[in-house]
Amino acid sequence: MSKKTVEIDENKEFKPSKEFSKKARVSSMAQYKRMHAESIEKPHLFWAREAKELKWQKQWNKVLDWKAPYAKWFDGAKLNVCENCVDRHVEEGRGNKAAIIWEGEPGDKRVITYRQLQREVCRFANALEAKGIKSKDRVLIYMPMTPEATIAMLACARIGAVHSVVFGGFSAESIKDRLEDSEAVAVITADGGWRRGSVVPLKANVDEALKGNKTVKHVIVQKRIGNDVTMKKGRDSWWEDDIADVPATHKAKGFGAEHPLFILYTSGSTGKPKGILHTSAGYMVGTYTTCKYIFDMKEDDVYWCTADVGWITGHSYITYGPLLNGVTQIMYEGAPNFPDFGRFWSIIEEYGVSIFYTAPTAIRAFIKAGDEFVDKHDLSTLRLLGTVGEPINPSAWMWYYDKIGGGRCPIVDTWWQTETGAVMISPLPGATPIKPGTATLPFFGVDAAILDEDGNECKANQPGRLVIRKPWPSMLRTIYGDKKRYRDTYWSDYDGMYTAGDGARKDKKGNIYIVGRLDDVLNVSGHRLGTAEVESALVAHKSVAEAAVIGKPHDIKGQAVVCFVTLKEDAKESDELKKELRNHVGKVIGAIAKPDEIHIAPGLPKTRSGKIMRRLLKELVNTGSITGNVTTLEDSKVIEALQKSLKG
Ligand code: WT7
Repeated sequence: MSKKTVEIDENKEFKPSKEFSKKARVSSMAQYKRMHAESIEKPHLFWAREAKELKWQKQWNKVLDWKAPYAKWFDGAKLNVCENCVDRHVEEGRGNKAAIIWEGEPGDKRVITYRQLQREVCRFANALEAKGIKSKDRVLIYMPMTPEATIAMLACARIGAVHSVVFGGFSAESIKDRLEDSEAVAVITADGGWRRGSVVPLKANVDEALKGNKTVKHVIVQKRIGNDVTMKKGRDSWWEDDIADVPATHKAKGFGAEHPLFILYTSGSTGKPKGILHTSAGYMVGTYTTCKYIFDMKEDDVYWCTADVGWITGHSYITYGPLLNGVTQIMYEGAPNFPDFGRFWSIIEEYGVSIFYTAPTAIRAFIKAGDEFVDKHDLSTLRLLGTVGEPINPSAWMWYYDKIGGGRCPIVDTWWQTETGAVMISPLPGATPIKPGTATLPFFGVDAAILDEDGNECKANQPGRLVIRKPWPSMLRTIYGDKKRYRDTYWSDYDGMYTAGDGARKDKKGNIYIVGRLDDVLNVSGHRLGTAEVESALVAHKSVAEAAVIGKPHDIKGQAVVCFVTLKEDAKESDELKKELRNHVGKVIGAIAKPDEIHIAPGLPKTRSGKIMRRLLKELVNTGSITGNVTTLEDSKVIEALQKSLKG
């Protein structure tokens, strides 16, 4: 098998083939421009037309009511998001169409049709209501990637309860914080989940998180593995028992357009994760529309997004968007390299996947594993590829394009955030010329600009701050329980504009290149991680006095987590201690936060006012020395000592 090296010409554009464009929902740049102009100039017309494709129990009075930074979309309407994802398709004749084709990590398989999904969701909605869970109650979901995770989310939406999904890789302490912040009344979990052949002890983590908790009255446990778990009488019940004797029908009540749909926690630049709140109508219209145009979803597509439902990608592009579009989707429980790096390609071949959405970090891991895992499989059913989560390096893009897409599939590099709810910047696959490394152009309704510190628009190729100048339907509405933080974090840099926290530049054609976060947030394997979160986990350890955390480029993960710590007087530096600290961070936050490097230092570089100068640490780690201005440094000997500890 040949291992061709790819020649990369960054100026080369790839235009969609005539064949692709002809069948696409948006088939030319002229059409994109026309629709984009309308969506910006007459948002009420544009979004009303899109929204009318969905089911409303009562029409809205007004498409948009905007008093920065508070938006109301489709005010006055009554709707049920779950009914739109499920019942609508049964009514429209898709009852026996596969909604979810699921594969467990050990190889077990299930196919769930839209009608079966409707019955399962209704039964679970009835089970939740039987426990007294009602509209606006918060329900924490901590599940493996099983159809029950989707069913749980949809059942919450159906009864108006607000779900808060916590990624199964997060720790008991992370669950505890989120339970406290959201004051959840119930937890939905499983006995365990499979990950690389081992069992993730989900229920045991929930038990630990619930120690001392006062709000949670019910814990519902799906039997996924059959491992031993403790069930607390009066509080815990089995999913299977709860749905045994309830009807498989349930009336989907209409809720207001701004009824809260979910809270999803994400890292910010301070220690405490933010509960991003999304509401019903706008989020529904946003995820529906982006799927339809960006993934060009059609009736016969087989779509697969490899994310976990614990992240926003799993919310918008596994649970809500694809089901709103009535497509068939693949759901896979486990790791991409189990039993080997061919797992994804064998799934694509077996189920005839046509649209595939994954992350650059996964692509880089596949490249490293070697082409032989791909070459064994027939990937000819693919017609469209997507990436999300971080900038994709041109060589990984080219490999994805050639090796996975066979040179015939457009790649949509989609930029968005937990806060934006849906994709904001992306090519439209039948229209936009694509290029490695750029998410290209704003989606409909998105008024994206790159500004300098004074609020002026940057010139072509001049880097600046990415902002969104107008409200969009799937935007976050607030940070749960913290309006002030909502205003301060997103709306205070420029008047009436949303600041994304990302640096970016535009080329002459208007293509947007995302440069990376401007705040103290790292992007580790496409996931956001606050340096402050890792620092506070470190200083919570009995041996640590102070900690500073920075990112460093990493071949596979995008960024590696590099920590500098000073020890308390009675603690001694040792390899065991470093290992212990690494595991400690994993235990406090979750495995994704485990530091790649821990340096024990005699002191940290600080300004005279006592602020840690992370800028110097970054420079030191990335170049080995300091060239910049260090006159504000309180003690210049610290740098020499750090240099020594880095070499050592
Ligand atoms: C941050 C948001 C949106 C779902 C996954 C992450 C980075 C996201 C891209 C992209 C360059 C990207 C940004 C953004 N990011 N997509 N296509 N190109 N960077 O969601 O955890 O809320 O993180 O991910 O830095 O701000 P998230």
